[in-house]
Amino acid sequence: MSDRRYILAGNWKMNKTPYEAQQFANMLADSLVGFTFFDIYIAPTFVALDRVREAISSSNIKLAAQNMYFEDSGAFTGEISPKMLKELNVSAVILGHSERRKIFGETDELINKKVKKALNDGFVPIFCVGETLEERQKGLTFAVVEKQVREGFYGLSKEEAQKVVIAYEPVWAIGTGVVATPQQAQEVHAFIRELLVKMYDDQTAQTIRILYGGSVTPENFFGLFIKKDIDGALVGGASLKESFVQLAKIMDKIITK
Ligand code: PGA
Repeated sequence: MSDRRYILAGNWKMNKTPYEAQQFANMLADSLVGFTFFDIYIAPTFVALDRVREAISSSNIKLAAQNMYFEDSGAFTGEISPKMLKELNVSAVILGHSERRKIFGETDELINKKVKKALNDGFVPIFCVGETLEERQKGLTFAVVEKQVREGFYGLSKEEAQKVVIAYEPVWAIGTGVVATPQQAQEVHAFIRELLVKMYDDQTAQTIRILYGGSVTPENFFGLFIKKDIDGALVGGASLKESFVQLAKIMDKIITK
């Protein structure tokens, strides 16, 4: 086990109404009491943030957003600013999720601007990278991930870089039920860490937390999480149900044993 503080993060995507989100967050706040050895984040939709904030206010769960824009205010119809998220006690923000990249056309350059703004405003950026099935089959996994990491981190100092959390999420594993094997995931995580050594230095690379995401469930979590360079998980489907509590229990057991 490394010295890195592990993370369990739930990405609720476009699920749960504000009311449903509040009910579920109440349940989580009760069930996750005492899990203090790692960071727990939940990322509801924007319209549920305020209610969820209230529900988890006296718990050890932290609030995350699923996206944000890089300006504080202005004529950006439909966007949400960091300043707004700050007021709602949001402490982390998922950036560059593959659904944002693919469906909403977000580029590496735009994501880099958001990462910089997030750091500047004191958020923990949960910065997502990952290859598609086609890219993996063509042997391009490392090249794709390297480009995403280099461009996402462009212009970041060593001190800034250390605050970024990377989520490696192979696109072919997201929401498909096809999870990467622990070996496949560890291979890319180790590659990212070596890349960070080249881009910065060993200490920086050892500090940065790298999460795995893509069809994580209580059934496959243990095998992934015991791998050397896997510092936790970004969970979609399994974060919408009781299984999120089970994931926290598994993480706690591995860390505290
Ligand atoms: P999944 O989603 O766990 O449903 O595969 C993960 C994610 O997209 O963050």
